[in-house]
Amino acid sequence: MAVIRSVIRSVGAHLPKRVMTNADMMKIVDTSDEWIVERTGIRARHIADEDEKTSDLGIAASKQALVRAGIDPIDIDLVICATATPDRTFPATAVTIQRALGITKGAAFDVQAVCSGFVYALTIADNFLKAGQFKRAIVVGAETFSRILDWNDRGTCVLFGDGAGAVVLEAQPQHGTTEDRGILTTVIRSDGRFEDLLYVDGGPGSTKTVGHLRMNGREVFRHAVQKISGVIEEALVMTGFAPDEIDLYVPHQANKRILDGVVKKLGVEPDKIVVTLDRHGNTSAASIPLALNHAFEAHKLQEGSLVLMEAMGGGFTWGAVLARW
Ligand code: UT7
Repeated sequence: MAVIRSVIRSVGAHLPKRVMTNADMMKIVDTSDEWIVERTGIRARHIADEDEKTSDLGIAASKQALVRAGIDPIDIDLVICATATPDRTFPATAVTIQRALGITKGAAFDVQAVCSGFVYALTIADNFLKAGQFKRAIVVGAETFSRILDWNDRGTCVLFGDGAGAVVLEAQPQHGTTEDRGILTTVIRSDGRFEDLLYVDGGPGSTKTVGHLRMNGREVFRHAVQKISGVIEEALVMTGFAPDEIDLYVPHQANKRILDGVVKKLGVEPDKIVVTLDRHGNTSAASIPLALNHAFEAHKLQEGSLVLMEAMGGGFTWGAVLARW
């Protein structure tokens, strides 16, 4: 049966120039390269300049994705930006990106699901495209988490970084089988009972400030492997694939030990997992498209590759997307 699928036409990414290594971190807080590498796998992160906004990173990533897709921005009718660090409280950063790309039709809006934002945004775009409401979408994950970090809290400031990635999606007729190109299934979940484990202690509607990120890392960690494995298994059951049939796992990059835990639980070959967190830390909603971009540039993503993306973040929110490149 012919169906419409959201085919991923391209990926692009952008990282701020300034790199902050673990050695640089040691000048700011009481930490060590050994602790950070051993507990997280992170060696460096990119930090945006004062005048570099989330939208600037998202615009650069989107432009690269559009060029690679060979699609004129005026043919895009949906822009979704997943971010927890918007330029301003409003308008949406997606609208700023839309404007910079010269797009004046369709819709643009932000999605707030923190580190799961890109998975949520892909899911939303996929449903709009499958419903026939829009034809071509840019889905961006862009963050300047350095702006909401407490640089006195060694338990959090060493973990995060800034960056952006973007994909171009196009509605295309496919056959309705799991051999199709495009997004094959999506799973998104949330559970607000865990909101106090990972949150920002400010906001326009409460403190009238931006606030700082607060996390009970140990508790988040405890939930992560189980919740992430759960949605991966759901995505596999929905499509009938076995874990070893997936060509590439592109996870949210929070902690190497979480990735290792998922590898062990699902019995996945470690070399099928894209790991980029050593170079840019946890970039929240940007981490999956940054990892996708890395895999693309390393020629690990071929047309027809089966790709599983997953994430978990504040809320808690979590989810998975299975797509054929
Ligand atoms: O993307 C959103 C989702 N977020 C995550 O997935 C994060 C999940 N959690 C984690 O990745 C880990 O829990 C952390 C990396 C945040 C922490 O690792 P941990 O093994 O859970 O360490 P811990 O928080 O239990 O702290 C162990 C010790 C503590 O010292 P004491 O109390 O045992 O003396 C901390 O004070 O490590 C200390 N510590 C540090 N030491 C050196 C905490 N941060 C640092 C640091 N450098 N940066």
